[in-house]
Amino acid sequence: MSSVEKSSKVSGLYKMPVEKRVEFVKNFSDLNEEETKIFSSSLDIETADRMIENVLGTFELPLGVAVNFLVNGKDYLIPMAIEESSVVAAASNAAKIARIKGGFTTESTDPLMIGQIQLLNVKDVVGAAQKILDHKKEILRTANAQDELLVKFGGGAKDLEIRILDSPIGKMIVIHLIVDVRDAMGANAVNTMCEALAPILEEISSGKVRLKILSNLADKRIVKSKAVFDKEKMGGEHVVDAFLESYTLASIDPYRAATHNKGIMNGIDALIIATGNDFRAIEAGAHAYAARDGFYTSLSSYHKDKNGDLVGELELPLAVGIIGGAGNIHPKAILCKKILNIKTAQELAGVVASLGLAQNFAAVLALSTAGIQKGHMSLHAKNIAVMAGAKGDQIDKVAEQMIKEKKIKLDRAKEIFEEIR
Ligand code: MEV
Repeated sequence: MSSVEKSSKVSGLYKMPVEKRVEFVKNFSDLNEEETKIFSSSLDIETADRMIENVLGTFELPLGVAVNFLVNGKDYLIPMAIEESSVVAAASNAAKIARIKGGFTTESTDPLMIGQIQLLNVKDVVGAAQKILDHKKEILRTANAQDELLVKFGGGAKDLEIRILDSPIGKMIVIHLIVDVRDAMGANAVNTMCEALAPILEEISSGKVRLKILSNLADKRIVKSKAVFDKEKMGGEHVVDAFLESYTLASIDPYRAATHNKGIMNGIDALIIATGNDFRAIEAGAHAYAARDGFYTSLSSYHKDKNGDLVGELELPLAVGIIGGAGNIHPKAILCKKILNIKTAQELAGVVASLGLAQNFAAVLALSTAGIQKGHMSLHAKNIAVMAGAKGDQIDKVAEQMIKEKKIKLDRAKEIFEEIR
């Protein structure tokens, strides 16, 4: 049976020992013995030394798996690399609720990235802009000559857009090169094309090219994910109403919107890191998109449907790749992509957006009901128990006692530990 037919719905994974969890993922994703060993190995130092400069070692993050995800009718186990407790559990719970009404559905634009070329010292900016447009075919041909493979796979430079901007140093022309980057993140392809276009643009305009670089505001590479969250599973229609009250603040207030969007990025970044993608690019794009109308607001939106269920939608730019970059070098990123069983960058983007929506839903639901500290406290208490010296079964005993007493402090953990050992 292929993993496409297997269900990602599972309960009690968190109670299993790590080996059993690995076994579950191994079966779901048809991993071999060698691949399962990668979970507990580190990036080798030679590879790390080739990735960045002045390498001293490697830096580990916990790698977990979110379960229950159904996206466009396909089951996914979602690997997440993150240091924050409760995030993986919250995403899995949200996905479980979303499953009841059919899971997440996504749509996306073509994978179009924008490259910017800044043209200065142009006397007649309007005339030069027209001349550049008149040479569009030739400019696109020069750009596409830089990446014949991309063109062969249906991608490549597709269009030009011209902007004339006023600035403290005078008027400038900014040319946007629109490139379909297919399954890549696209930075390399776009930057190479932009650099290659500088001489021809200078010749056409008699100006001077300064910056030539991709824009992280990838607003032509948009992904949407939508899900319906069952009102009964949320705790009743009054909880849906409470949720919508909380959400309203994020929609009108940048102070809340920043935190609300941070919750979305908790999920998104964890998957972006696990697949070796560039989380700074995703963050930059997401927040710039959240302020696209001149006012920073929520990336997600919610409303109640006729049935009283909660409908959630998330829309954002997602420049993710499944080829090239660290994702092709880092053994764990390669493994995570196998677990996901994704075939295209657009499919990955749909899963990323769905995870972001799940994460956001879970956080706002908790904030609208019991608050988030309850969930956080259990793992926090366990960490304090370990700091007090507890090992194995003692950790849960010390943590449970502190939670019962509502006193999660190192002094108390040490006392309880002394009592039980
Ligand atoms: C914490 O990492 C994320 C939250 O603050 C998100 C939110 O407030 O919506 C819980």
